[in-house]
Amino acid sequence: MKAVKATIAKALVPATGLTEDELVQMLEYPPNPELGDLALPCFKLAKSLRKNPNEIAQTLATTLVQIPEVASAAPAGGFLNISLARLPFAKAIVDVAVQDVHALFSADRHTGHRAAVDYSSPNIAKPFGVGHLRSTIIGESIVRLMREDGYDVIGINHLGDWGTQFGKTIAAYLKWGDEETVRANPVRELFKLYVKFHEEAERNPSLEEEGRYWFKQLEDGNPQAVKLWQWFIDESLKVFRKTYDLLNVSFDHYLGESFYNDKMDAIVDELIADNLLVEDQGAEVVDLSAYDMPPCIIKKSDGTSIYATRDLAAAAYRHDQLGADTLVYVVGGEQKLHFQQLFKVLELMGKPYASRAVHVSFGLMKFNGARLSTRRGHVVYLEDVLAKAIDEARKIIEAKNPTLANKDQVAKSVGVGAVVFNDLKTYRLHEVDFRYEDVLNFDGETGPYVQYTHARASSVLRKAGGDVDTLTFPAPAGATDDAHALNDTEWALVLQLGQANEALNRAVDEYDPSVMARYTLQLCHAFNRFYHHNPILQSDPEDRARRLALTLATRKVLAKALYLIGIDAPDEM
Ligand code: ARG
Repeated sequence: MKAVKATIAKALVPATGLTEDELVQMLEYPPNPELGDLALPCFKLAKSLRKNPNEIAQTLATTLVQIPEVASAAPAGGFLNISLARLPFAKAIVDVAVQDVHALFSADRHTGHRAAVDYSSPNIAKPFGVGHLRSTIIGESIVRLMREDGYDVIGINHLGDWGTQFGKTIAAYLKWGDEETVRANPVRELFKLYVKFHEEAERNPSLEEEGRYWFKQLEDGNPQAVKLWQWFIDESLKVFRKTYDLLNVSFDHYLGESFYNDKMDAIVDELIADNLLVEDQGAEVVDLSAYDMPPCIIKKSDGTSIYATRDLAAAAYRHDQLGADTLVYVVGGEQKLHFQQLFKVLELMGKPYASRAVHVSFGLMKFNGARLSTRRGHVVYLEDVLAKAIDEARKIIEAKNPTLANKDQVAKSVGVGAVVFNDLKTYRLHEVDFRYEDVLNFDGETGPYVQYTHARASSVLRKAGGDVDTLTFPAPAGATDDAHALNDTEWALVLQLGQANEALNRAVDEYDPSVMARYTLQLCHAFNRFYHHNPILQSDPEDRARRLALTLATRKVLAKALYLIGIDAPDEM
């Protein structure tokens, strides 16, 4: 679609006095296909050209019908409505989709840039909240989308593996914990200890003292403390890794907060040299009052460094050592201020990457309409959510397709895909609600619906037999009756296939996987309409060849789009 828009725009430059880019931006998709495939609103031109919009549209129409890409063009209500020549456009799109689907999606706009994407980043010895769940799902998709668009991406898990909570957990473990229970269920047990510590500490404040004592021991390298800390991390990671595997999530690096313990002094020195560090009630801070922000705390009054200092060190590490020029942080909206402060301090330090640092924020996730409060121990464990979704998916598959061969594998793909899709189809800043009935509904706007459409396309191709991967779109010689070369449902499908590139560009520019998720829905709707309106295997040879090529192109584009949002594309289900 991009190429044809550019061609049309170029043809309109002389008559409008606008640039090609401006014209490309102005081209719209008409709300109703009867109006055409593209439309140019001519209202803005009326002033500069001193004619009424319809007259302008009329003049432009005469120009446009002369280019081979355009079948017809006509003015209507101040718009110039454009219908494309169906056959050449369809052939171009379908053949690229079949032969090199990457090229249909991407012009590799970011080649030469390396991005460090920080996502998931759960805390050890603190609950894995729903925020981490969304960060994991959104982050993985952003990594894939950015890679598709040419970025060299480094995925980083900035594990919360340091902090006073470890002192508390060690103290609690030594009082109430035991090795067996933790080993059997590390994340839950550590969380229980965390909750118990806070409850007991309300009655018995001296516990806080003990917590501080153990954290100090940890900082000073006391072997018992270090050993427990390392063990908590190892056991927790085992659990996280299982979930990551289910979700097809993988990181290039696990670089937790503790990794920066020996890298913060350099940052502090730099801040001093830059004259940025000031004292504020015993703490050392960077004053941000000139930017309407509270001070960024670098060292607390007791000399301990904090979250922000580690993030400054991490940003420097990602740029200086890992070679990233773009820094992306997929973290919930409650940390908005933290990232504003962080980026401002980097800017004041003169770091070139400050202007290429982005906080990709997102909304809350609710379960059955209710918010969760981790404080009170109301936690939803991701592994439970996934296990139940897989279970339910398995029951549905059992009922729908009892003879399916690899039911376990498919149930996993469908159950997990349902949870992921439910998250990603929502604009990321909006709240997501989660209900099993909804996410697994095969007829709704769901993961199973999209996967089922992919399986349907695969099934048609399987039944067609032969080597489908070498199909090309048939272009009958001398086919001049362009309007009838593809019927309306075939053409609507081609138009959707042609929008893959725009979907990728927008998803990457806005760091928003929901653009790609919604694109899969549009494509599925178009394919299913095409499928219900046209015989494929039982049609005459020319129609059959064209429709099979359309089916293959759809399967390839859908598989790629699903991959980009982190969802499996089963061939049967
Ligand atoms: N562990 C943090 C939390 O749960 C999230 C870390 C996000 N990444 C970062 N570089 N600050 O709140």
